[in-house]
Amino acid sequence: MRANQVVIIVGAMIVTGAGLGLSGCKDDGTNPEAVPVQVTDAQLFAMQQPAAGWAFFGNTLDTLFSGGNAAHESRLRVRYNARAATQLDAGGRVRTGAVFPDSSLIVKDLYTNGVRTTVAYMFKLTAASNAAAGGWVWAETDDVGTPKAPASLKGVGCTGCHSPGIDFTRMNDAHP
Ligand code: HEC
Repeated sequence: MRANQVVIIVGAMIVTGAGLGLSGCKDDGTNPEAVPVQVTDAQLFAMQQPAAGWAFFGNTLDTLFSGGNAAHESRLRVRYNARAATQLDAGGRVRTGAVFPDSSLIVKDLYTNGVRTTVAYMFKLTAASNAAAGGWVWAETDDVGTPKAPASLKGVGCTGCHSPGIDFTRMNDAHP
């Protein structure tokens, strides 16, 4: 693997970005490998597709009522990939003081009348060109991956509400 290559392995959720932008390459803008990777909506949608391998908030598959915020639909279920699940406690809640490692993916599935209508993503990749504060890439798509809030927007319209949470996550405080 070349030094600056960023590999996102869909399914295993493994991202390597070692040395990204930190190598001895001339900083003259001519080396495409030195450009931080932009995480796309399609990559996020693909990463949430595997049926297995998720941990669920509160260790339950039940949907929850939205915690009183107008930004999302009324019923939701939040799942964590294996990397993100390292920051959950035995009860399936985010640990106090948690800082999610790179490659953590948190997916919020939102339902309207039992049909999934929105998929919201928080994907941590600190070196991504479209990562916002805390290293999170933010996006929302519909059920088939069409962007509703594109990842290119860098969390505009997301981070304001999320900044009070533990490493920008709101499930613990909205669902005490
Ligand atoms: C009006 C406030 C608000 C805005 C704006 C908002 N969220 Fe949220 N979000 C919440 C709250 C509150 C929760 C906790 C779950 C719930 O009750 O809805 C949450 C939960 C989430 C979660 C589950 C992980 C967690 O614990 O936070 C994801 C993923 C998420 N939001 C993504 C987004 C994205 C992407 C955007 C922008 C496109 C966004 N949110 C905008 C309030 C907001």
